Amino acid sequence: MFSGEGEYQEKLDKFRTQIQLMTELRKIGLMTSGGDSPGMNAAIRAVVRTAIYYGIEIYGIRRGYQGMIEGDIFEMKTTDVANIIQRGGTILKTARSKAFRTPEGMQQAYDQLMAKGIEALVLIGGDGTFKGAVEFFEKYTIPAVGLPGTIDKDLAGTDYTIGFDTAVNTAVDAIDKIRDTAEAHDRLFIVEVMGRDAGYIALNSGIACGAEDILLPEINTNIEEVLKRIDYDERRRKTVHILVVAEGDDFGGATELLKKVSERFPKLDTRATILGHIQRGGSPTYADRVLASRLGHAAIMALREGRTQVMVGVINGALHYTPFEQVVKQNAQMSADMIEMIRVLAV
Ligand code: F6P
Repeated sequence: MFSGEGEYQEKLDKFRTQIQLMTELRKIGLMTSGGDSPGMNAAIRAVVRTAIYYGIEIYGIRRGYQGMIEGDIFEMKTTDVANIIQRGGTILKTARSKAFRTPEGMQQAYDQLMAKGIEALVLIGGDGTFKGAVEFFEKYTIPAVGLPGTIDKDLAGTDYTIGFDTAVNTAVDAIDKIRDTAEAHDRLFIVEVMGRDAGYIALNSGIACGAEDILLPEINTNIEEVLKRIDYDERRRKTVHILVVAEGDDFGGATELLKKVSERFPKLDTRATILGHIQRGGSPTYADRVLASRLGHAAIMALREGRTQVMVGVINGALHYTPFEQVVKQNAQMSADMIEMIRVLAV
């Protein structure tokens, strides 16, 4: 039971009446939207092949909602998704569409879908994608199922998002390398990882790399405390100091921190590295490929079963369906024990 369940059920019934038995679905549209994430291609492959297996035509929509508005829609065949499971990025391309946020843009998008005879949608993306979906489906009754595709992992309704595991592994690999050079020079390194609103990449890569400190957007940074810990480590001659900061930390990213640390500890040899978009690319890990395949298959099955306006995720190993509204209303909870652990393990 979740708040607003009654209202949600009402909407669901409306959709069900409209679409009758979804096993009769003939044409489904598929798009990726927002920031790309490794594993999106594996998800596309699974959606396309599952749809075709069940005799459903599947239409790719290029560049997310923007392509929907422009009618950049084409039929996909099984061969279109051959040899993509291992590739980063998204063959459907992606965009963040401002036009879709306007009533005119939404109307155009709907008209394009109707003109192509699209009866339902599979949306792969993150927070922005589902926010757009909520607004769109308030006005237009077209069934849709979403898949969580974002490196940030900042969605409720799933333990993991497609691309998160790969992004964290990319960050871990980079920070390990930085630790080597930091140790060789006795340097303090500040490493900025992605995450404008969420610190999951910072928290997980920081713990995995034995970071001395981790700064997250979810926790107000007390800069004096951070400096005190550096000072303490200096006095006990801890030679390597790695500080991992999420780009959305309230004190600022690596650049701000570098200024502050260098000002307070002028004798310390300090450097900053911003990992940036390398975290968004690259070949997905096995975990992301399996998750994406499982969710892609589940999206088509969900539509065939008459589920709609839900995101498919995996919680405790099992498929889970969460209404779009619930996915965006809250961020996934950060584990308190992991936050507590940061300081303990840096002793
Ligand atoms: O997709 C998530 C994310 O990588 C965030 O962590 C980051 O803040 C943002 O996208 C950057 O987006 P872009 O550079 O593509 O506008």
